[in-house]
Amino acid sequence: MQLCMGCHKTVGKDMQEVQKLIRLWEQRRPIEWLKVNDLPDFVYFTHKRHVSADVACETCHGQVEKMDRVSRGPIHSMESCVNCHLERKASVDCWTCHK
Ligand code: HEC
Ligand code: HEC
Ligand code: HEC
Ligand code: HEC
Repeated sequence: MQLCMGCHKTVGKDMQEVQKLIRLWEQRRPIEWLKVNDLPDFVYFTHKRHVSADVACETCHGQVEKMDRVSRGPIHSMESCVNCHLERKASVDCWTCHK
């Protein structure tokens, strides 16, 4: 919040979303993280292996940069994970994603 307010004490003060930020700052509250992509706790997932394997962010998240409001991308069901794992010859063993 301190980092954000370094600019937003002066920048964008007339913008509605920035005003929300300023209000939180004055109340000394952090910005709440509303998770859009949230797999159930029984699924194991990390970004690391996917990023190293050159899977583009857009493949799973859609074109976030064109969304006014971020929504869940195309990959979140077991079927969508497993389909790519089959295609890319990554493991489809149950224990890969369910520890
Ligand atoms: C280096 C300066 C800088 C920092 C640091 C910064 N911003 Fe901004 N922010 C800007 C500028 C410039 C704009 C665009 C203002 C405009 O269009 O007039 C902006 C716009 C915004 C908007 C309005 C977007 C919209 O379209 O309604 C929000 C919300 C926002 N910033 C939140 C944050 C948050 C949260 C942080 C901290 C995580 C942050 N900013 C850090 C410079 C910064
Ligand atoms: C193979 C699919 C996949 C790829 C590729 C991927 N992600 Fe994700 N991402 C996910 C999943 C699934 C989650 C939810 C994880 C969870 O709930 O534990 C997630 C969560 C996130 C979150 C937290 C989102 C939220 O709603 O709170 C961010 C931010 C994120 N990813 C950014 C990125 C970026 C940036 C890239 C590219 C460098 C990327 N991701 C590439 C599947 C992917
Ligand atoms: C577009 C392709 C793609 C999608 C979609 C995808 N994966 Fe993967 N995943 C891969 C590839 C490729 C690897 C293997 C990377 C390597 O060999 O290092 C991998 C590896 C993994 C690993 C590590 C396996 C290990 O042996 O450590 C886990 C866990 C995993 N994926 C879970 C998921 C989950 C959960 C989802 C769905 C939310 C998902 N993946 C969606 C391509 C994908
Ligand atoms: C590549 C990753 C991956 C692999 C491999 C995988 N799963 Fe899943 N599984 C998921 C994800 C992601 C979900 C959560 C889907 C959701 O939230 O809709 C899930 C959900 C489930 C569920 C809950 C379904 C429900 O309706 O709530 C069961 C049961 C399950 N998996 C069993 C298995 C079994 C058995 C295997 C092996 C044959 C397996 N999974 C292999 C990713 C995987």
